[in-house]
Amino acid sequence: MKNYTTLILAGLVIVLATTLVGVLMYIKNQPAETRAVEPLTEIAAMEPDSSLWGVNFPNQYDTLMKTQTNNTDTTYAGSSQFSWLERDPRQVILFAGYPFSKDYNDDRGHANAVDDVRATARLNLNDEDPKHTPATCYSCKSSDNPGLWDELGMEAYDAMTFNEMTPNINNSIGCSNCHEAETMRLIVTNPALKEALERQGKDWTTFTRQEMRTVVCANCHVEYYFQGEGKYLTFPWDNGTKVEEIISYYEEIGFKDWVYPETETPMLKAQHPEYEFFTAGSTHYNAGVSCADCHMPYVRDGANKFSSHDVHSPLLNPEQACGQCHTDTNYVIERVASIQQQVAETKIDTEDAIIDAVTAIKAATAAGNADAALLDEARKLHREAQFMWDIVSAENSTGFHNPEYALETLAKSANLARQAQMLAAQSVGDTTLLETGTYYPAEEVVP
Ligand code: HEC
Ligand code: HEC
Ligand code: HEC
Ligand code: HEC
Repeated sequence: MKNYTTLILAGLVIVLATTLVGVLMYIKNQPAETRAVEPLTEIAAMEPDSSLWGVNFPNQYDTLMKTQTNNTDTTYAGSSQFSWLERDPRQVILFAGYPFSKDYNDDRGHANAVDDVRATARLNLNDEDPKHTPATCYSCKSSDNPGLWDELGMEAYDAMTFNEMTPNINNSIGCSNCHEAETMRLIVTNPALKEALERQGKDWTTFTRQEMRTVVCANCHVEYYFQGEGKYLTFPWDNGTKVEEIISYYEEIGFKDWVYPETETPMLKAQHPEYEFFTAGSTHYNAGVSCADCHMPYVRDGANKFSSHDVHSPLLNPEQACGQCHTDTNYVIERVASIQQQVAETKIDTEDAIIDAVTAIKAATAAGNADAALLDEARKLHREAQFMWDIVSAENSTGFHNPEYALETLAKSANLARQAQMLAAQSVGDTTLLETGTYYPAEEVVP
């Protein structure tokens, strides 16, 4: 009897001790802040000032602030503001007649978003001009937005001019763009994202935490357009988020960003479709990897583990960004280099095909005697070819987020451009318009 009691007591002690160790290990492995019981300071809902949130979460705040001074480049991207038009002068031709042909710089860190949007030469600050820049252009730049959208409604926000909105915008991208103050969970803050998901029958509040680690970036890293006179921010996702589905949406609503000079083509400009591109069946997306896995890896501050908010090119910290899943980071980094080189070269070939189409359509238009139906069909293909190229070009990973999709989309684009050129030649019965290589670069500038 006595032996049994000892055994039972010993058993209980072991069970209790194991549970205690388990609980302690669980707590230790939680990100630092979920352990903190009392926040140091109360954060108001949608508080735009990130430094106030920083009192409670200094590591996240400090790393976010690093994005202000990051300036290191990689082969195809990085954090300096190099000019795409200088690197690739073909783009001056591809965007002729549109502000992107005058000023088109590479992106940099989140803390610079407000400064950079105010500095771009693409702004038109003449409010008397019907083509003036709307307030909508601030939509993905500032932590003031969630509060302003809540107060004004997005419709009234977007109906204002950029100038009128400027006094309300005092902070660059910050905590309130991605987190709910009370719970710190990741949230959809941009009404345009919420509405686009709803039109697809999706309710973001049902998404898993891992899904939100990607969807939170879709508040901004997406293709969008300004709908109607009120410049209402809208994501063109009603038919789906693949490039053909986006084109079909724009066809249905008869949308154009500008008219290409001398070819008279109604053109579309792609924005920064990282979300659509990555989620279009990429290997990483299919494997359940999120944007934050690569761009916001866990790092340590002593015993604390937290997500680095110093968001930049993962090629600058591959051990942290890729090493959590890939043991051989050198191998995967080499794979990135060869994928990007292939995509960059294919992009240039595609640009040449589009420029040949432009040359032919211009000549056919100028001739004045073209078969109107054929020439219109050529313009339609020009529009589609350029948008397909631009979806790959404006996407900021030089194909890495979805290499197969990038190469497939560029191949379709080049094919459409060649067809456009042929139709233009046919429309005036002029075989000289079939000439290729009509763009001769002064120097090869792309790395
Ligand atoms: C598997 C890792 C991985 C995932 C997942 C990932 N990225 Fe990337 N991302 C990269 C790499 C690698 C590059 C290329 C960086 C370069 O060329 O310097 C990149 C480039 C970028 C860039 C341009 C960086 C620069 O320096 O200008 C942006 C913006 C970006 N990604 C956003 C996203 C978004 C948004 C998502 C999710 C929709 C995402 N990424 C998912 C690895 C990833
Ligand atoms: C661009 C979006 C974005 C911004 C801006 C942002 N965060 Fe985060 N934050 C994230 C993501 C993504 C995670 C990872 C969440 C997860 O895994 O559930 C995260 C995680 C956190 C966590 C949980 C602990 C951790 O480190 O994983 C805290 C706390 C946090 N952020 C605080 C802040 C604070 C404070 C700010 C402003 C100074 C801020 N965040 C700005 C996206 C953002
Ligand atoms: C509130 C809008 C917004 C959200 C949310 C957002 N971004 Fe950004 N992101 C931007 C803007 C705008 C820029 C360009 C800023 C500039 O050039 O000044 C940018 C730039 C970047 C860059 C380039 C940084 C560099 O140094 O070149 C990367 C990488 C990036 N974002 C990744 C992400 C990821 C990953 C997420 C989600 C975790 C995310 N972003 C969420 C708006 C946002
Ligand atoms: C959260 C986990 C995770 C992270 C982080 C991650 N990967 Fe992956 N990666 C995977 C998975 C899973 C696969 C698909 C399974 C496989 O083929 O190994 C994959 C596949 C790949 C492949 C395709 C392998 C091939 O040659 O066909 C490359 C290249 C790659 N990753 C590069 C990177 C780079 C570069 C980074 C960092 C910027 C990165 N990955 C970050 C999980 C990850």
